[in-house]
Amino acid sequence: MALLNRISSANIGIFFLILQANKTRYMSGKITFTMIKPDAVADGHIGAILGKIAEAGFKFKALKLTQLTEADAKKFYKVHAARPFYGELVEFMSSGPIVAAVLEKDNAVEDFRTLIGATNPADAAEGTIRKMFARSVGENAVHGSDSDENALIEAQFHFSGREIF
Ligand code: CDP
Ligand code: MG
Repeated sequence: MALLNRISSANIGIFFLILQANKTRYMSGKITFTMIKPDAVADGHIGAILGKIAEAGFKFKALKLTQLTEADAKKFYKVHAARPFYGELVEFMSSGPIVAAVLEKDNAVEDFRTLIGATNPADAAEGTIRKMFARSVGENAVHGSDSDENALIEAQFHFSGREIF
């Protein structure tokens, strides 16, 4: 009986691994991850920003209001750990609620970066989300993944499999 239990739990484990691998393959190239940052949430722009994202043809695969702890923000932005703005970035990103979302569209990563505009809103094109809603280069309203690989890592950082539809 114990042996049977071990076999069936191993099978279930393998089944879920295959499911996860298929889901990841299916999503690659079509998804990106975003956060509406604490400045834009505090400034009351959640609705307007989600509206612009939907109008641009992105589908919502996952969505929630949440808040990063300091440890979460450190981990999420660890590629920037050596940059001079890292401390401020971590403090800012954990300072208040954010909206996290997984978005689907063909060419999602690149198209979303075009929709949000340059990191510094002073350089962002007219009509982009950062141009319209960002306060500054640091408090710049939204995050957008920079590659398909990071989109998956970032989506999984914020959402469990059962929260992504
Ligand atoms: O967000 P994006 O990919 O456009 O820029 P990044 O170079 O990956 O930087 C990540 C985040 O760090 C930015 O979105 C800003 O919030 C912040 N940052 C900053 O505070 N000062 C800079 N000179 C550059 C970035
Ligand atoms: Mg980046």
